[in-house]
Amino acid sequence: ATTLGAAAQQSGRYFGTAVAAGRLGDSTYVGILNREFDMVTAENEMKMDATEPNQGQFSYGNADRIVNQARNQGKRIRGHALAWHSQQPGWMQNMSGTALRNAMLNHVTQVATYYRGKIYAWDVVNEAFADGSSGGRRDSNLQRTGNDWIEAAFRAARAADPGAKLCYNDYNTDDWSHAKTQGVYRMVQDFKSRGVPIDCVGFQSHFNAQSPVPSNYQTTLQNFANLGVDVQITELDIEGSGSAQASNYDRVTRACLAVTRCTGITVWGIRDTDSWRASGTPLLFDGNGNKKAAYTSVLNALNAG
Ligand code: G3I
Repeated sequence: ATTLGAAAQQSGRYFGTAVAAGRLGDSTYVGILNREFDMVTAENEMKMDATEPNQGQFSYGNADRIVNQARNQGKRIRGHALAWHSQQPGWMQNMSGTALRNAMLNHVTQVATYYRGKIYAWDVVNEAFADGSSGGRRDSNLQRTGNDWIEAAFRAARAADPGAKLCYNDYNTDDWSHAKTQGVYRMVQDFKSRGVPIDCVGFQSHFNAQSPVPSNYQTTLQNFANLGVDVQITELDIEGSGSAQASNYDRVTRACLAVTRCTGITVWGIRDTDSWRASGTPLLFDGNGNKKAAYTSVLNALNAG
């Protein structure tokens, strides 16, 4: 196959990208998007601050632009993200206790209901675990509403859109030996054992020199899959250039292909200049929209798999 999406489809997988509504008027950007990718994630437009800027007043304009563009092109959509300690609207940031718990659950219910039937997978909860050696939850206003806030969010999402896969999504969970990875693993294991509705785990996979692709990355994906969930690479970017970057992209792609329940890969933007880490040139297309060596290595890996 000659495009990322078509190459991924050969093994029943998808290849997606993050999309920013503000770039949908850029013909180079949209040309690459339409040609190469078969899954789309809104980079910011479905987050809590974007979709509920005032409590009880929902705003879907920018998210809908992305959803409609994708659906018109026959692409599927990953929803990102229903509940998160970050990018909360101002009114939510200072809430606590039962009021916050109810506001969060109402947000999950409203947004998942609005998009019911249109979302392949939702990042129901994003980045709820702490970095470092504790393996525990991150402190946040949501966490302080009680440790069961994550499962409550998953149950609300399932009730609102029974057809969407429900994912837990996080970063620095790629190395099997890290305490954070183990903490998320234990939560998923617990949810599966108690029937909390979770279908997938997202590995953001933002890699650079400080946080390289771990040697046990495939092991991590496989161990989570063995719990009975799909795994997805949800925000992939790898800083670097040339053959070193290409070989890291090759490794990540092959790791997914080697895990039956790794259902797809999403890169976090299209051109290097579209990236949140633009100076690290972490994506598959350069600023002019030309294919990089990293692109070719991913395409070849997908075609070989
Ligand atoms: O749109 C405003 C613009 O009007 C304003 O002039 C400008 C000034 O700061 O800000 C613009 O908003 C920025 C927005 O990106 C759009 O560019 C926000 O400040 C900025 O905080 C926001 O950053 C996003 C970041 O999440 C926020 O947490 C990045 O685009 C987005 O790529 C990034 O994505 C996250 C995932 O959601 C979760 N995992 C990590 C990943 C990378 O940080």
